[in-house]
Amino acid sequence: MQNRKFYWKLFVIPIFLLVVCGIAYVSFFKFNEARSMHDFDPGISDKRKVSIYEHMIDTLRNENYGSSVGYRKRAETNHIQCGRVLSGDTEYINTLVGENRMPLIENRRLNMSCPAIQDRIHPKNRDFKLLDSGIAFARVVFTDYEFIEKQLEMSWHPQNVFCFAVDKKSPDEFISKIQKLDECLENVIVLPVVENYDSAGHNMNVGHKRCMEALLPKTDWSYILLLQNHDVIIKSVYEISRIYSFLGGVNDVHFGKEIDGRRVPGLKWDPKSMHLFRNESGIDEKILNEPMRVYSGAVQVSMSRAAVKWLIEDVDVSIAIDQFNRTKYAGDEQLIPSLHLNYEYGMPGHFTDQCPDYDGPKQITRFVQWARGNINNCPTKTVRHGFCLIGIEQFQALSRMPFITVNKMVPSFDYSIIECTSELLYNRTFLGQLDHELYESFYKELLHVKYHEHHKDPMYKLDCRSNQNSWKYEYYL
Ligand SMILES: *[C@@H]1O[C@H](CO)[C@@H](O)[C@H](O)[C@H]1NC(C)=O
Ligand SMILES: *[C@@H]1O[C@H](CO)[C@@H](O)[C@H](O)[C@H]1NC(C)=O
Ligand SMILES: *[C@@H]1O[C@H](CO)[C@@H](O)[C@H](O)[C@H]1NC(C)=O
Ligand SMILES: *[C@@H]1O[C@H](CO)[C@@H](O)[C@H](O)[C@H]1NC(C)=O
Repeated sequence: MQNRKFYWKLFVIPIFLLVVCGIAYVSFFKFNEARSMHDFDPGISDKRKVSIYEHMIDTLRNENYGSSVGYRKRAETNHIQCGRVLSGDTEYINTLVGENRMPLIENRRLNMSCPAIQDRIHPKNRDFKLLDSGIAFARVVFTDYEFIEKQLEMSWHPQNVFCFAVDKKSPDEFISKIQKLDECLENVIVLPVVENYDSAGHNMNVGHKRCMEALLPKTDWSYILLLQNHDVIIKSVYEISRIYSFLGGVNDVHFGKEIDGRRVPGLKWDPKSMHLFRNESGIDEKILNEPMRVYSGAVQVSMSRAAVKWLIEDVDVSIAIDQFNRTKYAGDEQLIPSLHLNYEYGMPGHFTDQCPDYDGPKQITRFVQWARGNINNCPTKTVRHGFCLIGIEQFQALSRMPFITVNKMVPSFDYSIIECTSELLYNRTFLGQLDHELYESFYKELLHVKYHEHHKDPMYKLDCRSNQNSWKYEYYL
């Protein structure tokens, strides 16, 4: 009896130790991977928490909080005077950065009943003017419900439509909150939660494509905006609608040379092998058999309804998506840019790769700052996945730039920039505030806009030069 017990231990203890070491090893590496990239750490020190909570308590004790007309800020950010930041008051701005940055503190008592959600997103006292045509928004999400809800609020309009693709790995609580939006709001679709999305871009194209399929039957929109979790909209719905009318039907897509090593070798990229065209008759054999010229760009794009219809009905991108999805990192950033530049495919609103050295503004949909290996390239000196995190000190510049969205603003890093941007959009949308003018000529002179307007004209000569510089951040400092 005694002996048998002993043997049992001899066997189980080493296995137990092996498993524990294995877990420790894996966690150690995960931890170090994140650390070595100097990524933003969302943890908040106790000292900072005290000062944040003091601000919140002060606000909540104020009997007038929430009673004023106009934009209502959160308790965390209520003390921030966005108007002073907007006017570029440097001395004041310096008191809002560093240790004083305000993160969002999750509201654990957020009322998730339909009447409460509807009242936060489109309160009855907000008047909406008619848009020339609505806008469709397709966003892949995985975290920060209150931030996502805020983005929905600031771009909500009865003519707009919204689709969310939710990461299956997200906590159940997040998934059920997002699903509530579908239940409570007529113009919001939340797709069945069936896929994992990750920061390396896996399945991202699939999520956006499913959203496009779901939104296509909705009739009242002319452009779609493809977004990811932490993209922040920095233009009012009226401004976006005007910008899209200036674009005149062209797609707005970032592109660049294909990044080496992204594509898995040994796959076929010609339209014939990829079964790209649903109906190949009438399409040149040369187009069908030559490999697609691949470009790297970004997932965030604006596309015309005609382009979306073509993507869903005239071509079948399943094999292309599947092949790009085998890439380890950023496989999602090639599909739309490549279709956009392979002009002979005839995607509506396409551009061309006949300007290989073009270095003017390629895309006005998204503004992004890369750290490029040096944290000093970021005004906030803070990075995540190689992208600079945007902070309150950049508010004035952003309010004047021509872009529609910014990536990334992270609520646990600096919520004041998100809040002030929302207040600004509120003022522009509901108070008729004119703090910045859209430069129609800037948009109309964009190379892809001119190309789209004229390329079918036999007399048109493509001129790849650009003399525009007002799209660079430095121009607005
Ligand atoms: C929004 O409008 C209010 C009321 O006019 C003003 O006090 C505030 O500074 C404005 N905020 C921004 C960011 O423009
Ligand atoms: C949630 O909001 C609704 C509508 O405003 C309200 O009727 C309800 O009492 C609220 N529930 C809680 C728990 O506060
Ligand atoms: C395929 O394209 C050809 C040429 O454009 C057209 O005549 C034909 O009707 C199309 N077939 C189908 C099934 O749509
Ligand atoms: C995309 O790649 C991921 C990671 O390799 C995989 O889990 C997923 O199933 C792939 N998606 C498709 C549609 O093949």
